Amino acid sequence: MTVTSVAQHFPPTVADSRVVAWVESIAAITEPDRIHWCDGTPGERSRLIDQMVSTGTLIPLNPLKRPGSYLARSHPDDVARVESRTFICSHDQADAGPTNNWVDPRDMRETLTELFTCSMRGRTMYVVPFSMGPVGSPLSRVGVQVTDSPYVVVSTGTMTRMGTAALEQIGPDTDWVPAVHSVGAPLAPGEPDSPWPCNPTKYIVHYPEDREIWSYGSAYGGNAILAKKAFALRIASAMGRDQGWIAAHMLLLKVTNPRGRVFHVAAAFPSACGKTNFAMLQPQLPDWTVETIGDDIAWLAPGHDGRLRAINPEAGFFGVAPGTGATTNPVAVDMLDHDVIFTNVALTDDGDVWWEGLTDTPPAHLTDWQGRDWTPNSTTPAAHPNSRFTVAAAQCPTIADTWDDPAGVPVDAIIFGGRRATNVPLVTQSTSWEHGVYLGATLASERTAAAEGTVGELRRDPFAMLPFSGIHMADYWAHWLSVGERLAAHGPTPAIFQVNWFRKGPDGAFLWPGFTENARVLEWIIKRVDGSAAYRETALGRAPVDGSINYAAAGVTRTAWEGLFATNREQLLAEAEDTSAFLQSYGPAVPEAITAQHEALIARLHDLPH
Ligand code: GTP
Ligand code: SPV
Ligand code: MN
Repeated sequence: MTVTSVAQHFPPTVADSRVVAWVESIAAITEPDRIHWCDGTPGERSRLIDQMVSTGTLIPLNPLKRPGSYLARSHPDDVARVESRTFICSHDQADAGPTNNWVDPRDMRETLTELFTCSMRGRTMYVVPFSMGPVGSPLSRVGVQVTDSPYVVVSTGTMTRMGTAALEQIGPDTDWVPAVHSVGAPLAPGEPDSPWPCNPTKYIVHYPEDREIWSYGSAYGGNAILAKKAFALRIASAMGRDQGWIAAHMLLLKVTNPRGRVFHVAAAFPSACGKTNFAMLQPQLPDWTVETIGDDIAWLAPGHDGRLRAINPEAGFFGVAPGTGATTNPVAVDMLDHDVIFTNVALTDDGDVWWEGLTDTPPAHLTDWQGRDWTPNSTTPAAHPNSRFTVAAAQCPTIADTWDDPAGVPVDAIIFGGRRATNVPLVTQSTSWEHGVYLGATLASERTAAAEGTVGELRRDPFAMLPFSGIHMADYWAHWLSVGERLAAHGPTPAIFQVNWFRKGPDGAFLWPGFTENARVLEWIIKRVDGSAAYRETALGRAPVDGSINYAAAGVTRTAWEGLFATNREQLLAEAEDTSAFLQSYGPAVPEAITAQHEALIARLHDLPH
């Protein structure tokens, strides 16, 4: 193809010639009518928004209730990540591991070239340069996404540092990640557009060695905002392994204790398991403060001082709406006051939004996420269970002033958690870095609406990364172990904990109230870090001694408290047997330290009283 076959376009003078050549090569395949280089300015954003209002993609909300905010309703078949259509196309299948869908990259390139041929006809191709992490930070990485979806452009504008400043970072020697995205809905001349163009055929494809992403057919969340899961986790897990840092599905928060000492915590919970809530936690405990740094992704790297440092590579939150309310997450409710794009929530009659859990009593009438009349008697939810908000991180009332520090923040504690009705205690501390990595590796959680599949079904979700690792999962564990060794050469490694807010009693109700009361667990964790809280050794790790967490003040009875830490020998041995099969499914790649931890656990479980 020659350059003359692509639409006329005006690359900014700062654009590196490799970026320009790549853009033209994609345009030659996809044949957009127009090419627009995004500068990331507010004017550009408002022009794109106006355009989406005119095509019906965005519905403006009542400016008196929710200024600067809009509602998008997706196609009903494009509502969540599609793990079954997500591919890791490494040269060697073994490098993708047993948990990823793999296709030979040569075959996949052929399939995609066919799908993308003319896929942008009738549309504008936007060129979206972005930085993951503060522009210019040594911990940051850059990428360029081309997309035919203005919704994806505006979302990426919120979720990343998007625009000319990011493009300027790309010089002739810079590594940058190219990401190609098309909704797969070309328009014939004169054909009217639909509010949410997409295609029933979907592919979310990663080439980890080439550091390249191609996504087709979806405009929703992680399927389409490729800077997020596709780049910052899947491609970044391969980059991190090769470059000595870690991409993690983790929130980041800053805690200040009553004596004014600051700690930083990174926590991995699977999708829709409470990262946003925990990141915005407001303790009701005197003189403890929690501030937010990130709610979904952390990049962790050993610093010059030998401490583990972390950045939030994102610049916004793409958070779960249902369950976000004044009692569960008042910070988020405040944050969502203005300048938000909501997707798949319900619309009130006065032009505001509503979702299950925003208020205790639903409005008498709503328009549901599919545009249908809804009343409290309706049998379907008003908001889709995976409906979300997209909002700038800087708008969060509890954002820490260090949230975008280019040097990152030092990590003191790491937490793993999942939704577990049984077996997993409220909190335990690992006895070593290896034990902590074992807890992360064997994490399991009940499925949520964040991806396709049966909600509630228990599945292993190691490091909350099952859908997000671009490398063999066991190599990801080995990498955590090796980073631990590097840290240990300088001094103590961060303490590692496991939590479970979701354990249930015999009546099926949660034993722990969760939300703001999670601060009591966080307090114990921080006191373990500074050595001021006592613990007792249990088969599963170090647990709080009596009196070190004031559960009564959280409204928890003595019986419920005991239930939160109960160890049922037979049930735990059955789970350990399942863990053996799980570890075996990874074959010889499982690090020896993990196998050793597993055997030690089984021995401890056998010693439990019958
Ligand atoms: P992703 O953005 O998908 O990665 O999800 P996330 O981990 O950030 O999840 P989020 O914080 O948005 O929470 C998802 C759901 O979990 C919401 O419906 C919350 O109300 C619920 N949730 C959060 N914290 C708790 C808790 O402590 N206890 C209980 N029972 N539910 C919680
Ligand atoms: C998740 O599913 O973990 C999310 C939402 O954070 S998405 O960006 O769609 O992956
Ligand atoms: Mn997530």
